Amino acid sequence: MPEPVPPASGMCQHWDSSHPHGEMGVTKQPKVTRRRAWLQYAVWCLGFLLVFGIIGMYRVFRMQPQEQKIYLNPHLESYYVAYPHRYRFIVDQPELCRQHKPYIVIIVPVAPKNLEARDAIRSTWGNESLVQDKDILVLFLLGLPSGDDLEAQQVLIQQENVRHRDLLQSDFIDSYRNLTIKTMVMLEWLRDRCPEAYYAAKVDADMLLNIVALIKMLLRHTEYMTDYITGLVWYENVVIRDPDNKFYIPPEVYPYQVYPPYPLGMCYIISMDLPEKILEASQKIRPIFIEDVYIGLCLERLHITPTTPPDIRQFVVNPPPEYDHCYYKDLIAVVTNSPAQLKSFWMDLNKPGPAC
Ligand SMILES: *[C@@H]1O[C@H](CO)[C@@H](O)[C@H](O)[C@H]1NC(C)=O
Ligand SMILES: *[C@@H]1O[C@H](CO)[C@@H](O)[C@H](O)[C@H]1NC(C)=O
Repeated sequence: MPEPVPPASGMCQHWDSSHPHGEMGVTKQPKVTRRRAWLQYAVWCLGFLLVFGIIGMYRVFRMQPQEQKIYLNPHLESYYVAYPHRYRFIVDQPELCRQHKPYIVIIVPVAPKNLEARDAIRSTWGNESLVQDKDILVLFLLGLPSGDDLEAQQVLIQQENVRHRDLLQSDFIDSYRNLTIKTMVMLEWLRDRCPEAYYAAKVDADMLLNIVALIKMLLRHTEYMTDYITGLVWYENVVIRDPDNKFYIPPEVYPYQVYPPYPLGMCYIISMDLPEKILEASQKIRPIFIEDVYIGLCLERLHITPTTPPDIRQFVVNPPPEYDHCYYKDLIAVVTNSPAQLKSFWMDLNKPGPAC
């Protein structure tokens, strides 16, 4: 028996029959379904918007407050540096600390091009390897060169390292705005390659350093120091809000009026437990481009207060215009204005003669 053929458009027929206006419904129907379809479409769209909106909002709210602000204001990105990141040392001294077991390792961040500053230090305070029986290690820290002649620069750096064996070079682009990266890879290097040392110092390339006076200061502590960081400590340094100043920091990046205490970047000394601790704290605080302030922010999080040195006048950032042998003799670290000045002051301070 042949099955009864179902009506070709059952749905429509059902509509037809249920439609109160009978045959008139045949022409009205498509309008109603179209409206329904639009309604459905709108509901779907709203649903999608709602779901994505909630996911987006959830993502923003789950971020750290700092990340949130950057997500909402991308221009703030320029006040931070690209760290943490897996930077590698392409010039390294992996065995040096194991061989020397230094009392203090002094790291000098310096621009790749600044051979003159490195040579000035090598021929002056950097050439002292033994002071009061204590082994001193001086290393220079570079990033990648930039510019048209970067390959030629890199060859020179390799050659310089063959000659002196005192360079460390990491693979981030060396620039003023990247100095915080330099400090962070320095801390990584100290943690990984130099646990043998008692102390480390970060000393800028334009500093005249009196290592004898520095060691004397450190030897006042007879026990092994921890959580120790000293230098020219600045307290309650006011945050610069003038956008034309090179140290300008917008309130969205740092909301408070003053920074926590930190030793000025020109020269600071740390106990060797600190590299690891600061690196750990740094995972929770996005690194800003002002290197020494950033160290201060990490210290604050660690509840570590920088130690004021026994005589803070031994650290000088603005020396008097007139050179004075007897004044300079007692300093630990003082800024010079050129490699030539560094050499001439050092020679004068080290020439035999009557004490002051
Ligand atoms: C470092 O001092 C030694 C003598 O102690 C000297 O022979 C050497 O030339 C000095 N190095 C530099 C780079 O001046
Ligand atoms: C800092 O270094 C990073 C990594 O090499 C690089 O991407 C960035 O462009 C550098 N920034 C500046 C201002 O040089």
